[in-house]
Amino acid sequence: MGRLDDRVAIITGSGRGIGHATALRLAEEGAAIVVNDLDPEPAQETVAEIEKNGGRAISVAANIMEAAEAKKVVDAAVAEYGKLDILINNAGTTRDNMFHNMGPDVFEFGVKVNLFTAYNMTYAAMPYMREVAKKEKTEQGQPAYNRKIVFTSSVAAITGNPGQANYTAAKGGLIALTKTLARELGPFWINVNAVAPGFIETRLTAAKKEGEDLGIPEQMRTMALMLISLGRYGRPEDVANVHAFLASPDSDYVSGVTIPVTGGQIGGM
Ligand SMILES: NC(=O)c1ccc[n+]([C@@H]2O[C@H](COP(=O)([O-])OP(=O)(O)OC[C@H]3O[C@@H](n4cnc5c(N)ncnc54)[C@H](O)[C@@H]3O)[C@@H](O)[C@H]2O)c1
Repeated sequence: MGRLDDRVAIITGSGRGIGHATALRLAEEGAAIVVNDLDPEPAQETVAEIEKNGGRAISVAANIMEAAEAKKVVDAAVAEYGKLDILINNAGTTRDNMFHNMGPDVFEFGVKVNLFTAYNMTYAAMPYMREVAKKEKTEQGQPAYNRKIVFTSSVAAITGNPGQANYTAAKGGLIALTKTLARELGPFWINVNAVAPGFIETRLTAAKKEGEDLGIPEQMRTMALMLISLGRYGRPEDVANVHAFLASPDSDYVSGVTIPVTGGQIGGM
């Protein structure tokens, strides 16, 4: 028996990094998985890995910055598995620059890719999560079980981070959205929480190479490590462990919180 047997979960941005580890982990716990990513190839690779481990998964390549694409992902989940129980809003990325050089295009991109992706998915999920729970409540007196929504903020939204005005504005917005939706959706037994990773080793935090958009300069990587109490960078699996808790019945009485996954980062949350 897995904690997520009979549950259906969408994990956005699960072709790589934290989303990839989370998709594998939730499948291991018994959930049927929808792997969404902008890039089809890594999404298919995640599905292949889940299937190799004996799990169930489909991939839906879609740019969920667009509302219609997000709806496509949710509809695919319901078409394949008949329902939706868990939505892990993980997709996001950085496009750094100091604020005085951050024109409206780059600011808007940061907000759309980190905040609107989560809004689009969660909005598209409402008919299958809120409406279904509401119907159960009317017919049976209470929802059949707790459904789960998780957002992905960042510790940078709490501490601030030079060069990331767009990213931190969006990630801070997700903490506020978590609290409001926890209150709106609580009566329907939909738990809404967030994770706030610190420094997790993925392509977003790899040593930055000349001319590349993603990554962090080596000097900053070294400085970041000095602030981590546990003395190591995080791994995608460290965040996946918390996602698994927030997706499972073990967190049925936890809602509206943002859990830092930072290795005890000094000055973090
Ligand atoms: N790595 C860290 O240290 C760290 C820290 C704090 C927060 N986060 C957050 O964790 C999440 C995952 O980050 P990661 O480090 O695993 O990054 P990653 O780049 O390794 O993986 C993110 C995945 O999301 C996908 N994606 C991006 N935009 C998308 C879109 N519009 N539609 C669909 N898919 C899209 C990418 O293609 C990629 O495969 C992000 O929201 C990130 O901001 C990461």
